[in-house]
Amino acid sequence: MESESITSVLKEKRIFKPNKGFVREAVIKSRAEYQRLCKQAEKDPEGFWGNLARELVWAKPWKKILEWKLPYAKWFVGGKINVSYNCLDRHLATFRKNKAALIWEGEPGDSRTLTFQDLHREVCKFGNVLKNLGVAKGDRVAIYLPMIPELPIAMLACARIGAIHSVIFGGFSALAVRDRVNDAGAVLVITADGGFRKGAVVTLKEKVDEALKETPSAQKTIVVKRTKSDIVMQKGRDFWWHDLMVGASDKCNAEPLDSEHPLFTLYTSGTTGKPKGVVHSTAGYLLGAMITARWVFDLSEIDTYWCTADIGWVTGHSYVLYGILANGVTSVMYEGAPTYPAPDRIWEIVEKYKVNVFYTAPTAIRALIKLGKEWPLRHDLSSLRLLGTVGEPINPEAWIWYHEVIGKKRCPIVDTWWQTETGAIMITPLPGAIPTKPGSATLPFPGISADVVDRNGKSVPLGSGGYLVMKKPWPSMLRGVWGDSERYQKQYWSDIPGMYFTGDGARRDKDGYFWVMGRVDDVINVAGHRLGTMEIESALVSHPLVAEAAVVGCPDEIKGTGIVAFVTLALGNPPGDKLKDVLKAHVAKEIGQIARPDEIRFAENLPKTRSGKIMRRLLRDIAAGQETVGDTTTLEDYTVLAKLRQEED
Ligand code: PRX
Repeated sequence: MESESITSVLKEKRIFKPNKGFVREAVIKSRAEYQRLCKQAEKDPEGFWGNLARELVWAKPWKKILEWKLPYAKWFVGGKINVSYNCLDRHLATFRKNKAALIWEGEPGDSRTLTFQDLHREVCKFGNVLKNLGVAKGDRVAIYLPMIPELPIAMLACARIGAIHSVIFGGFSALAVRDRVNDAGAVLVITADGGFRKGAVVTLKEKVDEALKETPSAQKTIVVKRTKSDIVMQKGRDFWWHDLMVGASDKCNAEPLDSEHPLFTLYTSGTTGKPKGVVHSTAGYLLGAMITARWVFDLSEIDTYWCTADIGWVTGHSYVLYGILANGVTSVMYEGAPTYPAPDRIWEIVEKYKVNVFYTAPTAIRALIKLGKEWPLRHDLSSLRLLGTVGEPINPEAWIWYHEVIGKKRCPIVDTWWQTETGAIMITPLPGAIPTKPGSATLPFPGISADVVDRNGKSVPLGSGGYLVMKKPWPSMLRGVWGDSERYQKQYWSDIPGMYFTGDGARRDKDGYFWVMGRVDDVINVAGHRLGTMEIESALVSHPLVAEAAVVGCPDEIKGTGIVAFVTLALGNPPGDKLKDVLKAHVAKEIGQIARPDEIRFAENLPKTRSGKIMRRLLRDIAAGQETVGDTTTLEDYTVLAKLRQEED
């Protein structure tokens, strides 16, 4: 665990109470109400979740709320339900029929508003398009799109017919697309001729073309025309979205699906070289996303809500799309870069659509701070009433800036801790009920049994550091790793017996507040995105000139963590700056720009234990320019450290 962040948060003493005006209108209004919910959930977890699930529309009621055979949970067993129906159809019989479901803003300044009725029509039509191309219930569909309305339309259409979507973030490379398509055995890829970012076109179809050379299961694509770029369409394999939609019927039955039917898989990095496909269910996931969205973002009927996350990450799945639409609330979606064409684009959008609830990542806040407060000050941000953050610990300085410059000291901030695997927010303030402390995600959501424990699963005393775990199953928890149940067991349920281990270290203060310190495994969090160091190492080693590589994180002012790679070259290859660029580009090609190392350092040898394990801890110190602290007695060759330090000079 990072000792520096522990000291910095330990010093944080400020407490912020929600103002009276906010509390009066809030969904959950007091600590007592929060505690009542927690008590109910503790006494009767099944009753608690069951009551909440009753407001969803079920095609067939469940027989049993929970079946728990560690580590496998089934929720709402025997029930049948459809996510698309619950996000769309059920609103159509209400005044929400003509309410905006999605307000979309393109980077060039174009925009589109889709009401619940509009979205329903598009989703039904696209559901039929998928069926006409032979996509059936249970088939996997890969979606590799920019942030355009066709992305949620495609996801909801899959959900409607029971196809399992696997969204691949648009920043991933052709090889990453290939690997994800193959792992999921996807039958179809939905993509676009490109997307706009920072005024330029991001290519996607070319990458799909390259990927599809080696994806036996997927031999069809549907292509959205977004940028009008010149792309090659292969007859009989590639179909234009708009052509297929012309003749499609707008009547498409929302398939009643088993509660446990997989809604989607989403790939995320772990401690091995290979990303894992996290599997989420239909009913439990929907319930988790819906109820957390309502209580954490304090959603009301008249809110305009904006989450800046890309739908390619779990945050976008749960809190741009499913959780928000399930509540019948308007979700804003933006295509491009936050600072294009000017550093105030974000604030311009907030002002334009009168956004009330705004959810973003600490890395974005830090980048915006750097641009200067004159940019937000140019805009009327008075519509904002609640702010949120996710993805990494927020440093108190960034929290205070967010609170003062954006929230004008009026808006509570919800620092939400969760993961791809948890499906929904787990540790968070409920903004009308829980006073906040900058840097702390505060307390568990009602029904979530988070704790900080030692290696044996014993709770550590308040104030001590330990491992962040969940002690009981929850409805939106992952149901497994696609095609690899062994990895599911090993990764999440083996380190600490009988509990779900998050991979994070944490501490609880004297008030029981959780302070998440970051990963304790070989995963780094770069700009709020999770990357496995092994994954980057494998990419480096796949280059013919590289013999060995070790990747570590180092503090970065904006991204939180930067990527430093220590590389040993194959014998006889001279190191040089040019080769550094080649290797950086190689990683970007293998994984995507997000994994591109910030720094490459050539090393004759890497520090290893006698058993051959690379001592990353030492490399982390070197990368951060710190003296080596802690035990080095297991180091095999002491001269390695000295040589690595010389490299720096
Ligand atoms: O280390 C924690 C960090 O992000 C990890 C989860 O990453 P991912 O699955 O990509 O999902 C990110 C968005 C949900 C966690 O294990 N993390 C996420 N939120 C916070 C956080 N760390 C501290 N505070 C948070 N609010």
